[in-house]
Amino acid sequence: MRTLDPLLDPFTIKGLRLRNRVVSTSHEPAYAEGGLPRERYLAYHVEKARGGVGLTMIGGSAVIARDSPPAFGNLELHRDEIVPWMRRLTDAVHEEGAAVMCQVTHLGRRTSNYTGDWLPTVFPSPLREPAHRAFPKAAEAWDLDRIVEDYVSAAQRCVEGGLDGIELQSYGHLLDAFLSPATNHRDDEWGGSLEHRMAFPRRVIRAVRAALGPEPVLAIRMSMDEDRPDGLQREEALTALRAFTQDGVDLLSVIKGTIESDATLARVIPSMGTPSAPFLDFAGEIRREVDIPVMHASRISDAATARHAIRDGLLDLVGMTRPQMADPYLVAKIAAGEEDRVRPCVGANYCLDAIYASGDAKCLHNAATGRELTLSHVVPPAPVRRKVVVVGAGPAGLEAGKVLGERGHDVVVLEADDLPGGQVKLASRPGRRRDLVGVVDWRVSELKHTGVDLRLGVFAEVETVLAEEPDVVIVATGGMPNHDFLLEGAGLVRDTWDVMSGEVREGGSVVVYDDNGAEPGVDAAELLAGRGARVEFVTPERMIAPLVGGMNSPAYLRAFDEHDVAVTLATRLVGVTRHPEGGLVARLRHDYSGAETERRVDQVVVEHGTLPLDDLYHQLVPLSVNAGAVDHDALLAVQPQLIGVEHAPAREPAPVLVEVGATAPPGAPPASPAALPPEVVSLPSGPTSGFQLFRIGDAVASRNIHAAIYDALRLCLAI
Ligand SMILES: Cc1cc2nc3c(=O)[nH]c(=O)nc-3n(C[C@H](O)[C@H](O)[C@H](O)COP(=O)(O)O)c2cc1C
Ligand code: SF4
Repeated sequence: MRTLDPLLDPFTIKGLRLRNRVVSTSHEPAYAEGGLPRERYLAYHVEKARGGVGLTMIGGSAVIARDSPPAFGNLELHRDEIVPWMRRLTDAVHEEGAAVMCQVTHLGRRTSNYTGDWLPTVFPSPLREPAHRAFPKAAEAWDLDRIVEDYVSAAQRCVEGGLDGIELQSYGHLLDAFLSPATNHRDDEWGGSLEHRMAFPRRVIRAVRAALGPEPVLAIRMSMDEDRPDGLQREEALTALRAFTQDGVDLLSVIKGTIESDATLARVIPSMGTPSAPFLDFAGEIRREVDIPVMHASRISDAATARHAIRDGLLDLVGMTRPQMADPYLVAKIAAGEEDRVRPCVGANYCLDAIYASGDAKCLHNAATGRELTLSHVVPPAPVRRKVVVVGAGPAGLEAGKVLGERGHDVVVLEADDLPGGQVKLASRPGRRRDLVGVVDWRVSELKHTGVDLRLGVFAEVETVLAEEPDVVIVATGGMPNHDFLLEGAGLVRDTWDVMSGEVREGGSVVVYDDNGAEPGVDAAELLAGRGARVEFVTPERMIAPLVGGMNSPAYLRAFDEHDVAVTLATRLVGVTRHPEGGLVARLRHDYSGAETERRVDQVVVEHGTLPLDDLYHQLVPLSVNAGAVDHDALLAVQPQLIGVEHAPAREPAPVLVEVGATAPPGAPPASPAALPPEVVSLPSGPTSGFQLFRIGDAVASRNIHAAIYDALRLCLAI
């Protein structure tokens, strides 16, 4: 049956009927527990199925052998225990109407020699992978024999696990390494001519096809042009694919490029600041050349582009993987005619970088992703409507307003600035990072949908807040750049906010001192250098911006190279003075040798995070029923905050004393002094206005966008 929207047209591959054309392609968010797809993994995929996806693919790079140890939290398909877990997951996904497949692989050298069982990694030739740094051994005949068997056993487990099919990974792992002349330098029967290079993948495909039986779909995700002069070229790739099709492959997922380094991976999975759908036309050209259905994913972030891909015959199935990490209800919203309400994937690639930085994938601006077991993507209505004042319309305040509005509360968001967005406004100024503004724009638009009263240009004071007679006040006032760390000259320096807002003179010589390690320091250096300044980037770290991961650092490193930014590591800025003949002197001290040096420059720009703008909060603390205290146990369990609530006289000022720790309300979890911020351990006595008070985001401490949004979501889901 055809629908009016080509994206929603069903599609059949062999006997497998997909309810629409949208796929969540294979990706490993590192949600496996002990190598198995347990509750968290299941909940993550079931949520997408509820959200309408046609086909969800689990197990990005699920590993088939012990000498292919998990490199990024991968599922372990070489273990029999995985079968019942897969079965639970596939049953649950099927119940929601979606199909489910698993990507299956031997990682080859794309892992570490120093993890799992510490077995040597194998590859066609002993070539090191830059990204994971393994020096592999050249695979011997017995290695190839046992690896084929491992593929077969893994495929059988997938069948027993109830999957609708499997996808072989063939870009950057073992199979394609044999195919590519760049990585296969062998002169035996497995190397040399194309026929020899494709012999090992063909052997695997035939064996896997036989193990699967005729029904389940066998897909291959394959680089159809490695985009490197010594690599696999399109014509050879097409020849190989035709052979693979004869061997039993049913579906092609098109990749262009390679992934052996941060730089090349960042091209295959492009971030913000790159063109939309960069390889879609290429995938369309491949589709015209092959006889099996074709799918493809790479920054097809909006429904219009995805629709074009299907309507104009470029693809049969369209991958929207990060877009569904940002909004698992993407398809449901499209189907409901609410495309404008889809939370946009802004291409921050925090999801990928978070795997290495904090152990698992997190969407920059959807804190529920991967946390489905505790945080709901669909905001439930509140049992009682309350009046809530949110102060500040940065990411934390906007998220709070959005969630509270969806819960049906009467919400006012007060923002001192004429525009919402807080620090995100500044961060999204450079062209390359403009898409970040989606974090703000989408929330502002959601506030309108839920009837939240956003008042801009209102500097909130205690009286402003009290005039609203709130039941709950949430302070999300953010912070201001921290200059306090300097021993001298704090008044002489500029900060990264000044750079981003265009208040720093262009040109001249500048020291950019970064003691934060995240994006603001490198953003400022890139911006200044791009506008003609001679920039020296100084940091006490042992690398530049350690909090900027492998997916985002390539763009900064390219810019640093392009604009000749000098880098000085392991060095602190101690102080800044005026030079008698003009300009400034930056005094630097090497962290290890202690040696001091000086730089005479025109300007010094510092980045040391922010200090909370918390005056209003502290003024409100003695007036609130909970003295700003947060019950961490309740917060983490997404349960209502009860500290002091029974003292709240429902909107009327009342002379109630609350002694935190001494008179915690009956039934409320104890307000342990150790768990509370120091300023609320003992409460000043005085009248309260009957409201609960909370603060979130950088108004508490300098942190990133995800932390601010997470603060807001888990608190407000229980208000
Ligand atoms: C967290 C994360 C992990 C990924 N892991 C894999 C993987 O293991 N195997 C794979 O083929 N692709 C992997 N990918 C790539 C995605 O399948 C997809 O190709 C990529 O995100 C580009 O598509 P998109 O722009 O629709 O997100 C991963 C992507 C993300 C975001
Ligand atoms: S972190 Fe960024 S790239 Fe990843 S899903 Fe979220 S918005 Fe998209």
